[in-house]
Amino acid sequence: MMDLFQQQMNRKDEHVGHANQQYRATSAPEFVETRFVHHPFTTVDVADVSLQTKIAGLTFNVPFFINAITGGSPLTTALNQRLAILARETGMAMATGSMSIAMKFPESTQSFKVIRQENPNGILFANLGAHYNAEAAKRAVDIIEANAIQIHVNRAQELVMPEGDRVFSNWLKNIEEIVKASAVPVIVKEVGFGFSREAIAQLESIGVSAIDISGTGGTNFAKIENGRRKEDKLDFLEDWGQTTLTSLMEAQESRTPIIASGGVKTPMDMAKCFALGASLVGLSGEMLHLVRKDDSLPDAITTVQTWKEQLTTILTLVGADSISSLQQAPIVVAPSIQNWCDARGID
Ligand code: FNR
Repeated sequence: MMDLFQQQMNRKDEHVGHANQQYRATSAPEFVETRFVHHPFTTVDVADVSLQTKIAGLTFNVPFFINAITGGSPLTTALNQRLAILARETGMAMATGSMSIAMKFPESTQSFKVIRQENPNGILFANLGAHYNAEAAKRAVDIIEANAIQIHVNRAQELVMPEGDRVFSNWLKNIEEIVKASAVPVIVKEVGFGFSREAIAQLESIGVSAIDISGTGGTNFAKIENGRRKEDKLDFLEDWGQTTLTSLMEAQESRTPIIASGGVKTPMDMAKCFALGASLVGLSGEMLHLVRKDDSLPDAITTVQTWKEQLTTILTLVGADSISSLQQAPIVVAPSIQNWCDARGID
């Protein structure tokens, strides 16, 4: 019988394989149908634009980052190394994938450490699930000298996994304990099923530093886990959750900084997330696609540098000289998002 470590490494490799298969080059319709208002006269010139953004006491020179993906197996160590070099060469922050495997099998620790070794001065986020306690969170932070920790909440994914968790009622309490004990900011993130304003209020009440609403429209973990199941697939959960832009509307009242992720593919998608209130934008599926081949780094670096220039162009056109002024820019949301907001009483 295969041992538990091998099973977990295989799962990491399968997630990457399924995510690569799922990859789509085009943005979800709600991104396309959400539109900026064009004004011919604004007072912002290209040289006026700064892309800097701040959350949780951290300053990001690039307002988008490599969101949680992977680590733990030889294949994913190689991916982490390429992602870390991409982050270093372009100035992006980067999150590890879940470090759960390193909590259980110390022999996998190097798969995460490589990220800090390749990028000694970058902003790094550690990542763990919400069933872990404050002591585990501290260990994860220490392994990569993380600047913040992401705690992921992935109830829908766990329920589709045959070997997944079935107990969730302690998550909020665990997160509260981690927030109290953590020396670094605590970010709570979804894994692609979105957020509600009620859940955001719950997290605000326990004082988390930022919330990544990670919504539907990009990598679909219900589909990935169904793809790994041999039988009794839970197909009916593949359409579960709130889209990324809808989740941003749910977060309109949030006083806690919001990170947007889920199906973000282009600088125009990013700009729309900022205009709906995000302070930072995360990309996983798209970053994985950029570094999927052994020799893909030079092109990946060029692509990310181009995204920075394109984002600057969009800010100039909108008339926003900073990410915080882009957050105030006029934007008209897709009809499907407007319907949701009407039903939920969101202005
Ligand atoms: C992920 N994601 C993820 N999130 C997390 O918090 N911990 C994790 O270990 C993982 N693992 C993981 C593996 C792979 C292969 C992918 C593509 C993604 C979820 C990710 O951070 C993000 O929330 C979703 O993927 C939605 O964003 P994209 O992929 O549509 O940009």
